[in-house]
Amino acid sequence: MCGIVGITGKKQVTSEILNSLKRLEYRGYDSAGIATLNNDQINEVKCEGRVDVLEKNLLKLDINGNVGIGHVRWATHGAPSDINAHPHSSKEVSVVHNGIIENSMLLKKDLLKKGYNFKSQTDTEVIVHLMSEYLKRYKIKNAVMKMLNSLQGSYALGMIFKDHPNIIIGARRGSPLAVGYGPGENYLGSDSYALKSMTNKISYLNDGEFCIINNDQVEFFDEQGAKINKKILTLSSDEKKYDKGDYKHFMAKEIDEQPNVIKNCVNEYVDKINNEINIFNFPWNEKDIKNIILIGCGTAYHSCLVAKYWFEELTDLEVSVDIASEFRYRKNRLKKETLYIFLSQSGETADTYAALDLCKKNGMKTCAIVNVIESSIARDSDFVLPIYCGPEIGVASTKAFLAQLLVLYILTLKLSFLKKNIDEQTYKQKIKDLKNLHSQVEKTLLLENKINSIANIFSDAKGCMFLGRGSSFPIALEGALKLKELSYVHAEGYPAGEMKHGPLALIEDGMPVVVLAPKDSYYKKTISNMQEVIARGAKVLLVTNKSEDDVFSENIWETIEVELSNSDLIPILLTIPLQKLAYYSALKKGFDIDKPRNLAKSVTVE
Ligand code: G6P
Repeated sequence: MCGIVGITGKKQVTSEILNSLKRLEYRGYDSAGIATLNNDQINEVKCEGRVDVLEKNLLKLDINGNVGIGHVRWATHGAPSDINAHPHSSKEVSVVHNGIIENSMLLKKDLLKKGYNFKSQTDTEVIVHLMSEYLKRYKIKNAVMKMLNSLQGSYALGMIFKDHPNIIIGARRGSPLAVGYGPGENYLGSDSYALKSMTNKISYLNDGEFCIINNDQVEFFDEQGAKINKKILTLSSDEKKYDKGDYKHFMAKEIDEQPNVIKNCVNEYVDKINNEINIFNFPWNEKDIKNIILIGCGTAYHSCLVAKYWFEELTDLEVSVDIASEFRYRKNRLKKETLYIFLSQSGETADTYAALDLCKKNGMKTCAIVNVIESSIARDSDFVLPIYCGPEIGVASTKAFLAQLLVLYILTLKLSFLKKNIDEQTYKQKIKDLKNLHSQVEKTLLLENKINSIANIFSDAKGCMFLGRGSSFPIALEGALKLKELSYVHAEGYPAGEMKHGPLALIEDGMPVVVLAPKDSYYKKTISNMQEVIARGAKVLLVTNKSEDDVFSENIWETIEVELSNSDLIPILLTIPLQKLAYYSALKKGFDIDKPRNLAKSVTVE
């Protein structure tokens, strides 16, 4: 999704902005651009396509300067094109923007009447002309406040000005924005990752705030223009974790990292000596929690769905799951005895943040399960459980999904024991099983070659299905999501028992169908559903777990057996072959695996 970077200093800034834009590429985008101030003139270079196209264009045009802003755009208003790419500039001001200005059409009508010409189809261009208009009448700080006051919707903004040659102004409402501090230069960025190559000293803007950045100081203001002090945070330096190493794609590396991710995460939460789960500083008494609502988007939503099965199996809590974009607009009956848990890898997803904000404003108990601990969702929740999986760069989430599941399971066990829903012996046995999980994941990863050859059928398919029951159902959804987002094959995840209520009509001769049937209490039922699709010509890939019992079924095209484990942990193991299946199907088609078309890693607009 859109990314912002800005630098004001004494050196030439173009190549550093370019480097930061390269770091933002992982977010998913369709065009890129840079504007600088050079000889009292704003110059911009922007184009559709990747940052390396921009880099080539910059070689032809020297637009270096000591202050500049850069942007990668993920189209919302107006198609991806050179003209719609950011920055958008007039003679006086240049603007980069993340978010959506909801009243842009109204503002545009007004500005057209005043004689402003519009070059693009974007909502952002109104900001440029509004700014130019207010600068005629007000000093810069007031002009910015007037302009911000006119906007409805969400924004993170970076602006440079012809008549104020050393400053960048940043402003935030709804979309995240950070400021970085360097020696003789200061920075603006849509996330800390954009700035990490330049500094580890960061401050975050809160909603409604804006800032004026010079090369030697940064001033922060609230919505009314009053000056505010900001905490400067020091970020951990984990640069080498962003390296692809010998892998062709981040996704392949991130899948293979999973045994270590699990080991690390278990080490963080499980006390080795006492064989006990440590969740320090949990701010509530477990007796005050009667219900849980789990909220997320995309893959994070699927991890919530799996957790519902765990919570219901192991605790007496009432649990429901919500998609953040639905939750935030429904008429919710928020309850004090409910714990609202927000799942987000990035911690910046706009809908998940808005759902959290709604709960916070109503005084609810909020807990975030995130990967990025400096993120907005983590900062604004009452309590945070990090997933400790390290930076995830591939747009399609893999290791973060597994780590989310793990943390949710750890939380389930802890609450279950505290609430006396399970006895000590069971609790300790389940913790022991958790400690072995990484080696079962490692062994399951060895199925690689087999999956690679199976992937041919999926990558050539017109469409396919993923079926499961119980906690395998959300894994079916996740398997289908991975396949569709990476190899652009139409894939549907379905509860196996629901097939005959419609989707069975889609089964044709030779259609690949993945059936997730671990040998749990649903096994026989799922196998019957599998027979029904086989009878209609489906080519079934059965994914099950190793066990003493054989599969008693005929005409299965292929079978994959994941390792044997505590049955609670089966969803984690079933996920691995599906990740590999999606990876190899996309690889065979030659698609951009780490940056699938139209998708973004960090979805900062709703
Ligand atoms: C995007 C990503 C998905 C991710 C979802 C939620 O769609 O491409 O991989 O699951 O956002 O993101 P979050 O950062 O909130 O987990």
